[in-house]
Amino acid sequence: MRNLKDISFDFNGEDTSYLTHSFHPYPAKFPPQLPRHLLAKFAKPGETVLDPFCGSGTTLVEARLQGVHSVGIDINGLACLLSKVKSTPLSQKELQTITQTFQAIEEESLLWQMGRRRKIQIPQIEGLAHWFQSNVAEELAFVRQVILQIDDDDIRDFLKIVLSAIIVRVSNQESDTRFAAINKNIPDCFTFKAFLERGRDFLARIKEFSELAKKNVTTRIYNADARDLSFLDSASFDLIITSPPYANTYDYYLYHKFRKRWLDIDVEFAQYNEIGSRREFSSLKKHPDKWIADLHKCLGEMARVLKPCKPAFIVIGDSVIQKKHLRMNAVIADLAPQVGFQVRDVISSDLSGHSKLFNPAFTQRGKKEHLIFLEKSND
Ligand SMILES: C[S@@+](CC[C@H](N)C(=O)[O-])C[C@H]1O[C@@H](n2cnc3c(N)ncnc32)[C@H](O)[C@@H]1O
Repeated sequence: MRNLKDISFDFNGEDTSYLTHSFHPYPAKFPPQLPRHLLAKFAKPGETVLDPFCGSGTTLVEARLQGVHSVGIDINGLACLLSKVKSTPLSQKELQTITQTFQAIEEESLLWQMGRRRKIQIPQIEGLAHWFQSNVAEELAFVRQVILQIDDDDIRDFLKIVLSAIIVRVSNQESDTRFAAINKNIPDCFTFKAFLERGRDFLARIKEFSELAKKNVTTRIYNADARDLSFLDSASFDLIITSPPYANTYDYYLYHKFRKRWLDIDVEFAQYNEIGSRREFSSLKKHPDKWIADLHKCLGEMARVLKPCKPAFIVIGDSVIQKKHLRMNAVIADLAPQVGFQVRDVISSDLSGHSKLFNPAFTQRGKKEHLIFLEKSND
């Protein structure tokens, strides 16, 4: 079996935002170079890769570019929508329709600037008046209405992601990961301007991606729980590349709450089934064993769906739960043989200071982040 020795995992200074990778904020994205190098070395075109915690879809985008079929799973409905949009090439006709939709919104914006604002039905969203200025809510509601009237699923989903990408910026929420409401004094029609600017940037990127994406490649995405992959056949994947949550670090369901409310995406499924969340381990103070039990289930499912002797790569960070420091390389080394995996190699990176390797957002003193190379046993 090949090893990791000749792959460089130092992505410092490399462009991590090319093509559709820059779409939309998402906490703890992979640098795209990580799945790119692993796919190039461990998958052939026509094979199938699984990412059971696909998040923003980085693995799926890279698989498309290399002619590898992919399946992505995420508990978070917005992650699934984002993954789909980033990894789905669009036709010339669809790109043209999007350009025309932007023109129509721009023309409408000019009318609103001249004082001819339309009366728009604003969706019922919990806390709307606290989190959104009324002019912003009206403009978001207008754009949402235009998007929902579009018949083509791929165009509608693309535009939903553009809308989603600007929602925190035009809301009163301080930033993506800070929930304080602040006064931003957003002027009339700024929301239209932000939507069009972001939309035209995304359009140029999806156009380039669509030209480079390999033909006849499938990408399937499921909004499901990685602890139960019973809808996937056993021994059906050639490769797994994934990164589960870093326990007690994020609340993915919470960061995108308002986006989901505007886009009618369910919040509760992710809230109650997200593993390793801060909610579970800081608010509800669950025991660290719960995290290990959840990982055990996920690893068991990964081993079941992988073909014998095939590799699985897991990027995971250490965590502290109830003052217990969990060294995830040791935890996985313990769990792996119980489910039919052997550990082939581990690369660890110190997370103090700026020496982080895989996830630039994750710096914590004393903790390490690991790239763990597992191989499914032969029986
Ligand atoms: C570290 S992020 C993955 C980021 C991804 N590698 C990327 O490049 O965007 C971990 C993901 O696990 C998802 N997740 C948490 N619990 C899950 C579960 N029970 N089943 C499936 N996905 C889950 C979260 O919603 C989050 O998107």
